[in-house]
Order: sequence, then C-alpha cells, then structure tokens
Amino acid sequence: MIRVDSERDQVNVAKVYEAGQEQIFEYWDEIDADERRRLLDQIASVDFAEFTRLVRLHLNSEDSGPAPSIGLADLEPAVAIALPSTPADEARRDAAIAAGVAALENGEVGILLVAGGQGTRLQFDGPKGKFPIGPVSQRSLFQFHAEKTLALKRRFKRSLPWFIMTSESNHEETVEYFQEHQYFGLSASDVSFRRQAMLPIVDPRRGKILLRGKSDIALSPNGHGGAISTIRSFRSELEKRGVRYVFTYQVDNPLVRMCDPAFLGHHILGDSDFSSKATPKSDPDEKVGVFCRSGQETKVVEYTELSEKKRHQRDVDGQLSFRAGNIAIHVISTDFLFRDEDGSSFKMPYHVARKAISYMKDGELVESDEPNSIRFESFLFDVLHLARNPVIMEVDRTREFAPVKNLDGADSPATARALLENEWARWLERAEIAVPRNADGTVTHRIEISPLFATGPEECAARVAPNTVVDGDLLLQ
Ligand code: UTP
Repeated sequence: MIRVDSERDQVNVAKVYEAGQEQIFEYWDEIDADERRRLLDQIASVDFAEFTRLVRLHLNSEDSGPAPSIGLADLEPAVAIALPSTPADEARRDAAIAAGVAALENGEVGILLVAGGQGTRLQFDGPKGKFPIGPVSQRSLFQFHAEKTLALKRRFKRSLPWFIMTSESNHEETVEYFQEHQYFGLSASDVSFRRQAMLPIVDPRRGKILLRGKSDIALSPNGHGGAISTIRSFRSELEKRGVRYVFTYQVDNPLVRMCDPAFLGHHILGDSDFSSKATPKSDPDEKVGVFCRSGQETKVVEYTELSEKKRHQRDVDGQLSFRAGNIAIHVISTDFLFRDEDGSSFKMPYHVARKAISYMKDGELVESDEPNSIRFESFLFDVLHLARNPVIMEVDRTREFAPVKNLDGADSPATARALLENEWARWLERAEIAVPRNADGTVTHRIEISPLFATGPEECAARVAPNTVVDGDLLLQ
C-alpha cells in the first residue's frame, strides 16, 4: 500500500485498495507532491461504496441500467394535457395561466438550470452554456437564459432565485463567466452555483478506473439525476425565500419558455409533485424517451425499451399512442423534494453510458474514437414513479425545444438557430411585419430578439416599431 501522512488520506487510500482499484497509484513514484495531493483530493471526492456497488451491478451488462421499478408488460401511454383545441381547453389553459402568474407574483418559484454535463458531442471548448447561439449577436446560451430570468424578474417585480448545477469539469469557468459579465444584469445574490457529484470512468472489461494523466483519475458527472440532490442541498435558501415550485430545464435548449405560467399553473392546479412538458412524436423511430403509465405509476421509457409494436401503435385519430416525448422541462414541488429528511427515497438508479475517452496506459495517452469506457449516469426523470399526480403537458416541439447537442446535422447549432429565427419571425409576423423567407420556409436574413426586448408575441407586438423593414440582419434588444 502506498504511504500517506494524514489519517484522512490513509482512510481514503485504504478504500481504494479495498475496492481493488490500486492501479490508480501506478505512477505514484513518478509524480511530485502537488500531483500526489491532487490525486488524493480526487480520491476523497469519490463515494467508493456507491461506485463499487455500481461496478458490480453493471459490469458485463449490455443493457442501459437496472430495470426501472415498474414492469414494461402493462405499459399504457401516459395521459397528457393536449394543446388546446376547444373553448373548454382554452378556459382550462387560462385558469392555469392565472395560477402560474399568481405563483410568480408571490415569489413561490425558483429556477434550476441543469448544466453539469461535459458536452462531448458538441466538441466545444468550455462549458456548453458559453456556446454562442445568437444568430446575430452571438449571445451565449447562458446569456439567453439569464436575460429570460431578468425579464421575468422585471415583469413580476420579484427576484427569482436561479440555481445552476455545474460539475467539477466546468464549475470554475462557469462562475468566472457570470462574474465577468456581471451576471448579465441579475443580482449576484439571486444566482447560486453548485457542483454535482462525480463518479470514476472505468474500462468496460474489468471495471478498473481509468487515468487521464499520471495524477488524474478519469471522472464524469453523475448524470442529470444529480439535480435532485443538488437542489435538495439548497433547502435553507428555498425555504427562506418561500419557494414552492422549482422550474427545471437544460442548458442546451435556448427555446425554453422559462417558468411558463401555463405549465406552472397546470402543475399547481393538478396538485402535482413533478410535472413535465412533452412534445408529440410523429415518427415512431424518433429516438426520444416517452412518458408511459404502468398501473398508478408514470415513467419515461427509453426508445430502446419500447417494443416495436408499441412504438407503431396508433390511436383512432392516427396519432402515435406512445407519443409524449420527454424534452427535459419539469416543475418540481419542494414538498416532494423534502418529503423525507435524508432524501433516501430518491436513491436513483444508474444507467451505463459507453463513450470514447483518452486514457493513460503504460505511461502513454491512448486515444480512441470508439467507445472504450463506461460511465455511470442517473436520470432526473427516474424520480417520476415516486411523484403524486404527475402532470404531463403537450407543447409544440418547434416552438419550445431547440436542443444543441451535436456539432452538425440534427440537434446542432444550425438547427437550433433556425428554430429560434422561425419563432421570432412568427412574433414579427403577428405584429404585421413582413419577414422574407426562402422557399424552404427558413428566414432570408438573420433575426434575433433578446428576451429583454420581448419573451413572446404580445410583448414583441407592443414594442416593435410598426415601420420595421426586414431587409438585412435584424437584432432587437
Ligand atoms: P446530455 O445528456 O445531452 O449530455 O445532457 P451533455 O453532457 O450535455 O452532452 P454529451 O452527451 O456529453 O455530448 C443534457 C443536459 O443534462 C446536463 C447537461 O449539462 C445538459 O444540460 N447534464 C448531463 C448534467 O447536468 N449532468 C450530467 O452529469 C449530465
């Protein structure tokens, strides 16, 4: 066993040997005192008991994780609130908007941004939130989110606490970015950052922890499910501010309707613990998890878990039966989050993700384009089966979901910008401003509307100059 001085380090080193992971000390004799400290600190941050359990449970398993707590045989499509199509639907929607607005006016809403991911597919150097997505201004994802929050604060004359979940891999750069930009006009006291937990990345054959460098364990954030313990860790602040509902969303969706009052209202009026927005799937093979029911429980069933028959099953009106696609926008009640003191009911299952990484072998860095490692991730929606009265609200995908996942192709910056511009063009057209379009419907000129100018068509119509002509790039801010 390697020798370390302090009792704390001795205990942690013993845990490494007990877990059979002593290969992480392979280069101990070659590294200096600072590098040894770094390695010991990383070891101290790992929950070895949990990690060892996961390795035993998942290794050699080809599936995506432990079976969720409900079976798949008796699956039914989840019941969702459809887009309003009748006067009764409209009335229900208006009642929800009123309830949501009241919660915002009463300061009962907080915001949780899930931004701890590593954004490997986008290949962007830095936190994904810094990615320049604004078609004209190159505003970053973070800036759009911050300005939406500021617009809400101005509209409802209440400060909204904004909790940002980061991870070890992007925390410092994220905090520095907000500081450099003076929190984009928000008060620093309304913005809180917290790192989610990390877990080691292992080789898929033997479950041994990989090293990224001689004194550097390969670690990855423990999935967006880490959001539950992260938001629970803000308990005193949530209570102090009287927050009852936490609006939760992901960093890579610039089209998100922040704290949508209709959504908040349906959650409140439905007496729900955990609510979700869903977009109707039109293609049976679209790779998105769908909301389903089994008995009294609701869950998200991954595309790969749903049988061929169920994926193609259609209702009498021709729509896919299992169509409510998860877009990772939720409202969570704080009563639900704190219903038990120690959070033990939120023990999340872990799923296995196979990804390519560079790692140290025989003193050299081995590169790979093929998945050569496994990491463990928990998913936020895995708490859904614990929730009372989960509300699922259908929304128009093209108007609320513009994910920035890949460098190019589907779900890329190009597709997200096109969706944003199309939405802003609709607002302008509602205000009777002509927006030139190409044959395929895309806008001819670059358009951008800052959330500080307008967050929806009514505000846009009220503020845009009626003689506005779109004959070149247009930036309204
Ligand atoms: P993705 O699953 O798309 O992962 O995360 P990612 O890290 O952004 O990108 P890839 O897969 O490496 O290319 C969806 C959302 O969940 C957050 C991300 O920041 C993003 O907002 N997330 C993901 C976390 O906060 N923590 C995690 O451990 C994983």
